[in-house]
Amino acid sequence: MFHPHTELRFVSESIGYGVFATRDIPAGTVTWALDALDQVFPPSALEAMSPMLRAVMDKYSFTDRRGKLILCWDHARFVNHCCDANCLSPGGFDVEVAVRDIRAGEQLTDDYGTLNIDHAFDCLCGSPRCRGRVRPEDASNLAEQWDRSVREVLPRLATVAQPLWELVGEPEALKALAAGRMPMQSTRVNVAPRLRVSAKAG
Ligand SMILES: C[S@@+](CC[C@H](N)C(=O)[O-])C[C@H]1O[C@@H](n2cnc3c(N)ncnc32)[C@H](O)[C@@H]1O
Ligand SMILES: [Zn+2]
Repeated sequence: MFHPHTELRFVSESIGYGVFATRDIPAGTVTWALDALDQVFPPSALEAMSPMLRAVMDKYSFTDRRGKLILCWDHARFVNHCCDANCLSPGGFDVEVAVRDIRAGEQLTDDYGTLNIDHAFDCLCGSPRCRGRVRPEDASNLAEQWDRSVREVLPRLATVAQPLWELVGEPEALKALAAGRMPMQSTRVNVAPRLRVSAKAG
């Protein structure tokens, strides 16, 4: 489920819709948590789908660290990519957190490089830090940068309002991470098995 203080807004003809904050969302807030209404598919499920449904999956699902395809049931599936994303996922958890303060009216974005994309795409995020092209290999190449951003806000997890907390899969572990009682695994652990193999090979 996506953070309740957000709504869908039209961005542009080329990007389509995106998710925007309706109130300020402070750094350290869990902005998305996998929940029981999200659909989870094995990759083999794609074979049985019609081309029309496969196109939906291609656009709106992402692959998690277990190699499962996740199709979010709410407007979480409309989150756009930005090369300077304000939401990222700590290694080993099915959540995303705000890695800096997000102002009301600002778009919430994540980095598709963290979502196990299987093909590169030209990015239109418009950030001064835009990579131009977002690639599957980014997951390995940029992991340390993402790790730094997430680690920096972990202590804030315990100090800000967390409307999604009851949906967090491993709340005690996330609390331990926030309190510094447990080290955060690198976001590299979120790389799906098939990409881990190709990264080693290539
Ligand atoms: C998960 S959907 C996000 C919602 C989408 N904007 C919509 O209105 O349906 C992913 C799609 O959004 C577009 N998109 C998201 N971020 C983008 C970016 N940084 N550059 C170009 N296209 C982007 C691409 O068409 C991509 O296939
Ligand atoms: Zn970009």
